[in-house]
Amino acid sequence: MSDNIESALHEDRHFPPPDDFVAKARLKPADAEALYKKADEDYEGFWCDLAREKISWKKEFSVGLDDSRAPHFAWFTDGVMNVSYNCIDRHLEQRGDKPAIIFEGESGDTRTYTYRDLYNEVGKLGNALRSMGVQKGDRVVIYMPMIAEAVIAMQACARIGAIHSVVFGGFSADALRDRLDNSGAKVMITADGGTRGGRVVSLKKNVDKALDISEGLVEKVIVCKRAGNDVDMKDDRDVWWHIATAEESNDCEPEWVEAEHPLFLLYTSGSTGKPKGIQHASAGYLLNAVITSEWVFDLHDDDIFWCTADVGWITGHTYVTYGPLSVGATQIVYEGVPTVPDAGRWWQMCQDHGVTVFYTAPTAIRALMKAGDELPSQYDLSKLRLLGTVGEPINPEAWMWYHEKIGGERCPIVDTWWQTETGANMIAPLPAVTTTTPGSCTRPLPGIIADVVNEEGESLGPDQGGLLVIKKPWPSMLRTVWQDDKRYKSTYWPKFDGKYYLAGDSARRDPDGNFWIMGRIDDVLNVSGHRLGTMEIESALVAHEAVAEAAVVGRPHDVKGESIVAFVILKSDRPTGAEADEMVKTLRNWVSDHIGPIAKPDDIRFADGLPKTRSGKIMRRLLRSIAKGEEITSDISTLENEGVVAQLQGKA
Ligand code: PRX
Repeated sequence: MSDNIESALHEDRHFPPPDDFVAKARLKPADAEALYKKADEDYEGFWCDLAREKISWKKEFSVGLDDSRAPHFAWFTDGVMNVSYNCIDRHLEQRGDKPAIIFEGESGDTRTYTYRDLYNEVGKLGNALRSMGVQKGDRVVIYMPMIAEAVIAMQACARIGAIHSVVFGGFSADALRDRLDNSGAKVMITADGGTRGGRVVSLKKNVDKALDISEGLVEKVIVCKRAGNDVDMKDDRDVWWHIATAEESNDCEPEWVEAEHPLFLLYTSGSTGKPKGIQHASAGYLLNAVITSEWVFDLHDDDIFWCTADVGWITGHTYVTYGPLSVGATQIVYEGVPTVPDAGRWWQMCQDHGVTVFYTAPTAIRALMKAGDELPSQYDLSKLRLLGTVGEPINPEAWMWYHEKIGGERCPIVDTWWQTETGANMIAPLPAVTTTTPGSCTRPLPGIIADVVNEEGESLGPDQGGLLVIKKPWPSMLRTVWQDDKRYKSTYWPKFDGKYYLAGDSARRDPDGNFWIMGRIDDVLNVSGHRLGTMEIESALVAHEAVAEAAVVGRPHDVKGESIVAFVILKSDRPTGAEADEMVKTLRNWVSDHIGPIAKPDDIRFADGLPKTRSGKIMRRLLRSIAKGEEITSDISTLENEGVVAQLQGKA
């Protein structure tokens, strides 16, 4: 385990919830206590009560947890409902004219959608999809910029019972093709292009490329006009969004689906080369989205919420498309990067839109912190009352900066631990209840039975690093890996007789019972808060004709969390000088084309071979030390090819 321990430094700064925050909070200490008690005494009843209270059902359920197919768990199985109805229709009477989404583009264009507008837009697109023959259970791939239409597209799928699979707009045509083919989608929704950092990203071009090489079933592509860049529209296949929806009615009867009906697939990296389609169900997923929006983000009717995540990731699913809408909140959606025109853009937007609750990633906080304290101090951030982080452990320095410079020392910070697979926040402060400490995600939420255990599944004591597990099924857990039950079982339930969910993270608890996440236990990197499988990058590298072998590891990076280091063996002789520089460039672009710019290695080193044990296993721990530039003190004499170490260190 010691390999994973990043920083076990003792942290003794503690921040209790401010009194005025507690006074107005949705969940007060006594409420939280009652919830923990109820979950402890009657676990299933706890979730059933919440599901009855928080979800509008078409037909009430009588079954709580069905564990007859464990570890495939099911919740509220005989209930019937619709997620989009819960996010939109049920607010219309009281909040029809309330802004649901305030959109801002990078160039400053804005558009506000009320709940009524959302109803209309989602209805029209839902009807258009139905007109194209999309039915309940069909998959629709969404590949869009971060614009309101991306949310509308997801909601439209949910409305008609189609299963959406959003592919992050930063992924390449190859990565898109893999996901398209695996999901078996027959319709795609995209845009001509999106704007990031002043540049137009030609999404439609990538779609055309992906479909050229796809073996899949896509029949129709709906194209939203956004960036105005030139696109080729294929006659029978491609149709503009505004044309497809022009004649459609605003009213689109929701498809009433059973609670377990799949709501979406979201592909995520694992330790092998092939991305996994994480499959979520409808009602259970929605339930945790609702309660965490209330408990952790404390969303009130007059809040302006802003979660900066892209809808291509789970955070953008749960805390843009579903959570805030399900509780009738107003939220900001922003298309661009945080640094246009300068690194004060987000703070300016917080001021101009009166943002009250702000949720982002540590990597973004670190990047903006580097730009200096002056920028945030130029803006009026006094409306902010709660801040959140997600995606990776936040270093205490960044936490303190966020607390002081953005939160004005008055806003609680919720450091939320969760995963694509968990669907919603799992370990996180309750802002009116929990005393926070910089760097810790604190305690499991009511109803979440998390623990730190050893290889035998035994609970570990204070400050002992171990495996993070969840000991009881929860409603928003993944249901399976799309069409791969075997992989679902072997990835998440491989130990402890399949009784505990294995998160793949290592963690420890401090003597106060606060959880500290220490890193991944599998070969997964966390680059700018994005999980990237090392195997996936290695596969991309060896797909290049010049490459014989590759190994990829992470190296700590002060902004990105981790940066990617690739050790590459070419089929020809080891290149040096200008030849090596040229090859590095080629391979970086190659990976970018095959996966996306986020997967580009920061550093590529060549050698005659990789360090392997005599049994042929690549010594990853050694590679990690080399990548970090550490002195190699361990005994490398058992290595089959000792000489390569100096080459990889750049010393030979
Ligand atoms: O390693 C943990 C880290 O991100 C992983 C989940 O990645 P993904 O499925 O892409 O979802 C990210 C957004 C929910 C986890 O296994 N992680 C996420 N949040 C935190 C975190 N590590 C430490 N602290 C967090 N708050």
